[in-house]
Amino acid sequence: MTIVARLSHPADFDGWRTLARRLAAAAVAPDAVEWRVGDDPGGLFDGEALPEAAGERGLVVPRGFLELGRLVVLHSDPQRFGLLYRLLLRLQGERALLQVATDPDIRRAEMLAKAVRRDLHKMTAFVRFRLVRDAEDGEAFIAWFEPEHHILEAVAPFFVRRFAGMRWSILTPRGSLVWDGGSLRIGEAARRTQAPGGDAMEDWWRTYYAAIFNPARLNPAAMRAEMPVKYWRNLPEAELIAPLIAEASRRTDAMIAAPASRPERRPALPREALRPLPAQVDEPGDLREAAAAARDCRRCGLWCDATQTVFGEGPPDAPLMIVGEQPGDREDLAGRPFVGPAGELFDLSMARVGLDRRRAYLTNAVKHFRFTLRGKRRIHQKPGAGEIDACRSWLTLELGLVRPRLVLALGGTALRALSGETAPLSGFRGRRLALADGTPLVATVHPSYLLRLPDEAARQRETERFLADLGLVHALLPAMRLQAAA
Ligand code: URA
Repeated sequence: MTIVARLSHPADFDGWRTLARRLAAAAVAPDAVEWRVGDDPGGLFDGEALPEAAGERGLVVPRGFLELGRLVVLHSDPQRFGLLYRLLLRLQGERALLQVATDPDIRRAEMLAKAVRRDLHKMTAFVRFRLVRDAEDGEAFIAWFEPEHHILEAVAPFFVRRFAGMRWSILTPRGSLVWDGGSLRIGEAARRTQAPGGDAMEDWWRTYYAAIFNPARLNPAAMRAEMPVKYWRNLPEAELIAPLIAEASRRTDAMIAAPASRPERRPALPREALRPLPAQVDEPGDLREAAAAARDCRRCGLWCDATQTVFGEGPPDAPLMIVGEQPGDREDLAGRPFVGPAGELFDLSMARVGLDRRRAYLTNAVKHFRFTLRGKRRIHQKPGAGEIDACRSWLTLELGLVRPRLVLALGGTALRALSGETAPLSGFRGRRLALADGTPLVATVHPSYLLRLPDEAARQRETERFLADLGLVHALLPAMRLQAAA
């Protein structure tokens, strides 16, 4: 006798749970159940009706089983429901079964769960939205993706959180996610040809990818593991991978052969004793006055070795204030924030997520370059708590003058300067936070962190997370968005 257990959709965990309880209460053996989804007629015969829920007995399962089951159900393996049902029954007598990693059923379930986790991760990393104009001539974004498993509903909250303020659709052969800026709909399955082919942003993205590619740290195996080839056709940057790899060893040889660059000559500075600012300075009335006042700042010792104060810059009414750590070597010489490699990477990242960097006010937690000399090279050193505290009044002044609608902290030093928070940044990044006065705050890593990562795979992964964090700024602050090309 075969009993047909019918689920409403391929990822119907709640449906499976209800049916599995009823089947277990009626002591139906796993081999006697045929699991089907939706209207799928399944085998040649329709089997017996499911027993009524007569006297369901309480089933006890360890906590981890439900978690495991929720993932396993998302797998595309047609045997998954039967496997879970078998495990459910076995767990009634074998309480420690989940810990028996060598058990074939457990091994299989763990393998399915792992594949689903990987698919979820890949979808969050490799969806590439294309900007389109929709029927109301507004901005909308469409992406094409081919998940291996039934993960659409499970992954949807990630995209809703990250891109809450945009209208977007993700089309897949298993269904579509459609977000209209307020509610989510799971729509029809789609075909690749329904998705747009490319947009103006892709040139930015390719430039960006080429800029973060470090030939000296090339590890093609790790790259392929992190970015499997099957995803390449949806990734605008994929066409660059082969030429970049082919060029890598020549570029590395050239880097090794190049003579060490000489630091530019900086104006000599008098090594005076530290002297405090005059007790009373007139409160600057605008950013120009503030920058002028900061020029002579002696509130900590960094001014002695730095070339100059690097004050913030940008529109005085910028909706977004971006706070970095401190000027680097290039900024110290130029007297302007974010003009070096980290700044270039940051510009490209902003453009990549559709944010207009020119409309932001950029500044740093600490306004002088802290470094140590190694030979002729000035090596960046993180500013200390004393320097952050000493410089905070300038940052507070900038915040008061610009009155941004949102602040973006790049890195732990910026977060600390803005909020006093000393716990690791990882606990705060990518979420909507607020300053003490209620101004919305988003925190993410500093772009120089991405430049320092030792291998290409880690850099790809972290870059995606960084872009997703910037995506939150895009969602929260429509005023900062790049205008789409007409
Ligand atoms: N890093 C920063 O935090 N700020 C700059 O201006 C440059 C690099």
